[in-house]
Amino acid sequence: MIIKSLEQLEILSIKIAKKISNSDCILLYGEIGSGKTTFSRYLINFIQEKNNIKKTEVLSPTFNLLYEYKINSLKVMHYDLYRLKKSAEIKQLDIFDVRAKTVKIIEWPELITHNIIDKIELRFSHMQNMNERNLSFKGYGKWKDFQIDEF
Ligand SMILES: Nc1ncnc2c1ncn2[C@@H]1O[C@H](COP(=O)(O)OP(=O)(O)O)[C@@H](O)[C@H]1O
Ligand SMILES: [Mg+2]
Repeated sequence: MIIKSLEQLEILSIKIAKKISNSDCILLYGEIGSGKTTFSRYLINFIQEKNNIKKTEVLSPTFNLLYEYKINSLKVMHYDLYRLKKSAEIKQLDIFDVRAKTVKIIEWPELITHNIIDKIELRFSHMQNMNERNLSFKGYGKWKDFQIDEF
């Protein structure tokens, strides 16, 4: 689908945010500047607002690998795995520790090999128009029949 503006990206992120629960995983693919962090920011800020919690800054976890957001009963883990080079490094992060029930939003997830049940794959790419993006959605598990492409 074509996302024509930041407003449309926000609408889409809210649609997803409304259904999100601990143990969901959102994998964000796409080149630098394609909108992965912006999508994550809209999603996290919406959940904060819905829970009457002050919206925080949502920065790119490029250098820290991870920023965590505790929002009432939800715990959102926002990863950026761009700097990692091997699957072994990712295994060390324990992203999929079964004892921790968390929402995972993962930028640059290419090296992940874990079998995730409830997950969304979003693939962003640039368009000629600076404010548009091409976006593909694929849902698995509880997201299998989720419809995003109506504006
Ligand atoms: N429709 C759009 N969707 C996503 N980002 C957009 C859109 N239009 C403009 N942008 C801008 O593109 C940039 C995307 O950057 P960012 O979200 O950090 O990308 P990434 O995390 O994929 O590297 C932001 O500055 C954002 O404001
Ligand atoms: Mg980013």
